[in-house]
Formats: sequence, C-alpha cells, structure tokens
Amino acid sequence: MDRVTIHCPELGAASAQSQNVRGDTMSRLKFLAVTVLLSCVSAASQAQQTPTNKGEYLARAGDCVACHSAKGGKAFAGGLAMGTPMGTIYTTNITPDPDTGIGNYSLEDFDRAVRSGVAKDGHHLYPAMPYPSYAKISDDDLKELYTFFMKSVPAVKQPNKPNEIPWYLSPRWPLAFWNLVFAPKTGFAPRQDHDATWNRGAYLIEGLEHCGACHTPRGIAIQEKALDAGSASYLAGAELDAWSAPNLRGDLRTGLGAWSVEELQAFLKSGHNDRGVAFGSMLDVVNNSTPYLTDDDTKAMSVFLKSLPATADQPQFAYDDSTAKSLQSGNPQKAGADTYLGACAACHGADGKGQPPFMPPLAGNPAVLDADPSSLINLVLNGAEPLVVKGVPDAYRMPQFRIQMNDEHIADVLSFVRSAWGNNADAVSTDQVKKLRPATDPSSDEVIVLKMR
Ligand code: HEC
Ligand code: HEC
Ligand code: HEC
Repeated sequence: MDRVTIHCPELGAASAQSQNVRGDTMSRLKFLAVTVLLSCVSAASQAQQTPTNKGEYLARAGDCVACHSAKGGKAFAGGLAMGTPMGTIYTTNITPDPDTGIGNYSLEDFDRAVRSGVAKDGHHLYPAMPYPSYAKISDDDLKELYTFFMKSVPAVKQPNKPNEIPWYLSPRWPLAFWNLVFAPKTGFAPRQDHDATWNRGAYLIEGLEHCGACHTPRGIAIQEKALDAGSASYLAGAELDAWSAPNLRGDLRTGLGAWSVEELQAFLKSGHNDRGVAFGSMLDVVNNSTPYLTDDDTKAMSVFLKSLPATADQPQFAYDDSTAKSLQSGNPQKAGADTYLGACAACHGADGKGQPPFMPPLAGNPAVLDADPSSLINLVLNGAEPLVVKGVPDAYRMPQFRIQMNDEHIADVLSFVRSAWGNNADAVSTDQVKKLRPATDPSSDEVIVLKMR
C-alpha cells in the first residue's frame, strides 16, 4: 500500500487561532492536537467521514492522535506533555520513522507496547499510555492497527523529548511490579449472558475507547479501580486535570439513568443532545473519535453503557417551576440569582431549560448535579473550547467569566444553579473556586499539565 501524502497548510492558522482560545494550556495543546488531526489525518481520507481503512478506523476508536500529537506538531509525532504524580512525561513519536519513531517495530514489538506497555528496548511504559485498556484489543484489530501505522501514516523525523522525572523516581522497574498487580492478564472475553451488540459495545468502551481512563476512579497506585463492567466502580466518575468526568452508570440524577439509548448515541455522534453538550476533556473524545464510528458501533456502545446499574438509589429529577417564577418576578430570593439573570439566563433561560441541543439545559443535567463541581468552576472561569464534529465547528460557545467575576460571584452563581429548578447538588465554596482559578489560568506557567489518565 502506498504511503498517503498529507499536506497541512492549516497548521499556521491553527496556531494563530489558539491565541484566542481560553482554557488551560494543556487544553489549548489538546485543541491544537485536534486541529492537527483534523487537518492532517482527515485530509488523508479526503472528507472527514468514517474511515474506510480498517486500521485508521481503529486508530480513531483508540483516539491515538489526541495524545500522540502536540501543539503545532504533526499528527502522531508525539511531544504532548502529560503530568503524572512523579513528574512530566512526553508522549512519543509513533510515526513509522525508523530513527525517531516506531519504524523498526515488528508486529510483535508493537503488540508488546500497545497491549502490555513494554517498549521495543524493553523499558516499561508509564500507564499514561492506556495499555491496561488496550489489552482488550483483539489480535486481528491489533494487526490492522499495525498495518495502518506502518503503511498509511507519514513518517515524521522528530526525536522524543526526555521525561522530566526526578532521578530518584525515574527507574522504570517498579512499573513491572505495577503491571504484575494491576495490568489485566487476559484479553477481552465476550460475556455469554449478553448479546452480540452489548459485547461489541463492551469491547469498544472497555478496550480501544478507554473511557474508563477518565471516568473510572483511581486507587492509591493511580490504577483504575476497575477495568470492566463487572465492578460497581467502573465508570463511576473521577476528577482529572481540573475537570470532573461524571458517573456514566444508571444513577438517575448524577449518572445517565435518565438518558435513553438514542440520546446517548446522539451525544457520542455529535457532542450534544437535548440534555447536555460535551466540553472540557470530553472534547478530546468527541472531536477526534466517537463521531467517526459507524452508527452500529455508537449504538452498541450506548446499549452497553445503559446496562450499567446505578451505584446509588436516587429519586428521578422532578422539575420545580418556583425558581423560574421567582426570577421572572424580579425578586429573586437566593444569592447568585441576580448574577444568573444578568450573565447566564440569556442563553440557559430563566427556566434553566436552555435551548437544546445547542444551549444545554442546566435543570436536571447530570454534569450540573455532579458531586464534584470542578468541571463547572473550570467552565465558568475559562469558557468552553470549540466542539468540532468531523471538521465542522459548533456555532455556540460558553463564554469565559474569569475577568468579570470574582471567586465569590462564581461560587454563588454555581451554588444557585445547583439548587434551582429542582436541582439538589451541594453548594460550591469560594475556596473551591480560589483553588482552580490559578491552576487553570491560561496565562500562568503553573497551570496543571495533563494528569495520568
Ligand atoms: C491517553 C494518552 C495516550 C493514548 C490515547 C495513546 N497513547 Fe501511546 N503512549 C502514551 C504515552 C504517555 C506514551 C509514553 C509512555 C512512556 O514514556 O512511558 C505512549 C507510548 C506508546 C508507544 C511506545 C512508543 C515508544 O516510542 O516507545 C506506542 C507504540 C504507542 N504509545 C502506541 C499507541 C497507539 C497505537 C495508540 C492508539 C491505539 C496510543 N498509543 C494511544 C499515551 C497515549
Ligand atoms: C452566550 C451564551 C451563554 C452564556 C451567556 C452562558 N452559557 Fe453556559 N453554555 C453555553 C453553551 C453553548 C454551552 C455548551 C458548551 C459549549 O459548547 O460551549 C454551555 C454550557 C454550560 C454548562 C455545562 C452544561 C452541560 O451540558 O453539561 C454549564 C454548567 C453552564 N454553561 C453554566 C453557565 C453559567 C453559570 C453561566 C453564567 C455565569 C453561563 N453558563 C453563561 C452558552 C452560554
Ligand atoms: C480525556 C478524558 C475523557 C475520556 C477519555 C472520556 N470522557 Fe466522557 N467526559 C469527560 C469529561 C471531563 C466530561 C464532563 C464534561 C461534559 O459533560 O462533556 C465527560 C462527559 C461525558 C458524558 C456526559 C455526561 C453528563 O453527565 O453530562 C458522556 C455521556 C461521556 N462523557 C461518555 C464518554 C464515553 C462513552 C467515553 C469513551 C468513548 C468517554 N466519555 C471518554 C472526560 C472524558
């Protein structure tokens, strides 16, 4: 097969555009990674449609490009900084360049790196590379992926950046023990008590799509507490990089219990539905991966997710119209209500129902009811970055309020939102906002880097 020649004239424009994008530095890097991908990889397939090359399709499902590309860089050439509890590490060049990339990897070498976390020279990879999930990739799919990287990805000569981990923490041998304890010993085994659709969804979600890397809580050794549907911790929600990836289980208020399979599928295909819009690090997934999958695959993933039982017995959300009446009477009772009317209601409505599917409702929205308010604080401080579905950016954007609002105002308006229209989540404290303000400041050099995921 011939190597595809890819031209990326949009790269310069993408860098210029990023200056105007609000968000933490890493998010901007990720945004660029997205742009690079959109301008490069999809150029290879001409239109940004579902890839017909099987290996490219699998690379989309694995979202390899979101991590293995950096600001202003070439797709798959690596260089993205990721924070780990030990220090910053950089993703590597996985283009087929023999000197700086993986051009010398045999299929066996590639297999060992992707499914077992061991590089060609024998060193153990940090689990920031989601090999505990990729261990579920089938032999056939692994071969297709290998062929895609060797034959269709253009080679880029770009040396890997050395990791910034203090010498006393840098020996990689403890990772061998980590693997012994936490890495899965077997691949994906279809569950006999479920049908083929469910099993296809499980294969994608637990494996290539590595949804648990963000949505499953981590234990003391930063291992995901569960890697499959067999445990109640699986996809139960977790915080990372100052975003909270919410519970995706059947919980009626803080999970996806109230979403239908169709609504879930619409969210994966387009980043929005009548109940919410993707933002924060979920954009990595929607901008690069899930919309490129076939309808059968997004359906299977949705069926699988909808089968995950709730972790808590929650009453169904019931809309309460007294908030809207009080706001409309011009005599709002609660702190934050004035701010909401002045700064938020134009888009999200005095009734909290938004204008779906583009202006999300805040009433009964699981992301708003999330016990961890990190995503909400981060979003109000910094606004949202572009949702770009198959190359087409969304027209509506959540603005940033970092300059207009102090910590107390943000805490008040979010506490109001979390208690209005029948919402019943805990108040947000000024201290919580104070902590996230510097950590997510785009102009600070102390911004958090992408954490272990
Ligand atoms: C969540 C981020 C993330 C995703 C997604 C990801 N990787 Fe990685 N990958 C990494 C990091 C970080 C490293 C380097 C780890 C280290 O240095 O210990 C790495 C290392 C590798 C290596 C070893 C390369 C070398 O030079 O030693 C290969 C091969 C690889 N990844 C392939 C893939 C493929 C194929 C996919 C998609 C199916 C993928 N990765 C998706 C983060 C990621
Ligand atoms: C100009 C219109 C606009 C204004 C004003 C606005 N928002 Fe938003 N908001 C959006 C859009 C659009 C999204 C969806 C994310 C995106 O793609 O930008 C959103 C998303 C959100 C979300 C996440 C909802 C979800 O789907 O999970 C919350 C919470 C939120 N806004 C709260 C607020 C608050 C609080 C204010 C006032 C301080 C506010 N918004 C002001 C347009 C707006
Ligand atoms: C890189 C981290 C990351 C990965 C990987 C990830 N997510 Fe998310 N996800 C988030 C964050 C952060 C949010 C909260 C922001 C939002 O609502 O869009 C979120 C939100 C969601 C929501 C909306 C939930 C709600 O309550 O509004 C759904 C559904 C979802 N993710 C499904 C998935 C699925 C399915 C996968 C795997 C295909 C996945 N996510 C992979 C970070 C991630």
